[in-house]
Amino acid sequence: MSSPIIKYSQIVMPQDANVLGTLFGGQMVSWMDIAAAKAVHRFLKGTPADAALTRAIEAIEFKEPVHVGNWVNFEAQIVETGRSSINIQIDAFKETKKVDRLLACTARFTFVSVKKLEDGSYEKVAHKKTN
Ligand SMILES: CC(C)(COP(=O)(O)OP(=O)(O)OC[C@H]1O[C@@H](n2cnc3c(N)ncnc32)[C@H](O)[C@@H]1OP(=O)(O)O)[C@@H](O)C(=O)NCCC(=O)NCCS
Repeated sequence: MSSPIIKYSQIVMPQDANVLGTLFGGQMVSWMDIAAAKAVHRFLKGTPADAALTRAIEAIEFKEPVHVGNWVNFEAQIVETGRSSINIQIDAFKETKKVDRLLACTARFTFVSVKKLEDGSYEKVAHKKTN
């Protein structure tokens, strides 16, 4: 399947850094999750699903450090869909004053589509398009 590349950006602030002054890995993963969620949000329009939840994160690799003041430009692309699952490839590129685009982190996320129930809980749902 060929799906659009969804973009999302963040600037690294001092509170995002670890003790070495580079971007804390957990913050990077959180931003990647948001980038994946943006791609999934677009994909689920016109489907019976109300939302999708992160089910798995695989093949995550931190390739380059990112420093305070750098921008991180995320590119999220849906690479595979199942009955309820959605697999998203996320690439995070760092941008500095000297470097426009350097792959800093990469991961594969799996989301699962869900439908909200009246009692406040949710259940897994197939995301077959209705229109
Ligand atoms: C999301 C949730 C409702 C799914 O229910 P479930 O009973 O676990 O669902 P399943 O095990 O049948 O898996 C659902 C789909 O994910 C796929 N899947 C399950 N585990 C997977 C894994 N480790 N890696 C990749 N895909 C996986 C299954 O193959 C299935 O795909 P398909 O429907 O396209 O065939 C449930 O797992 C849940 O609530 N998890 C917590 C989610 C959460 O809190 N996330 C963090 C906050 S967003």
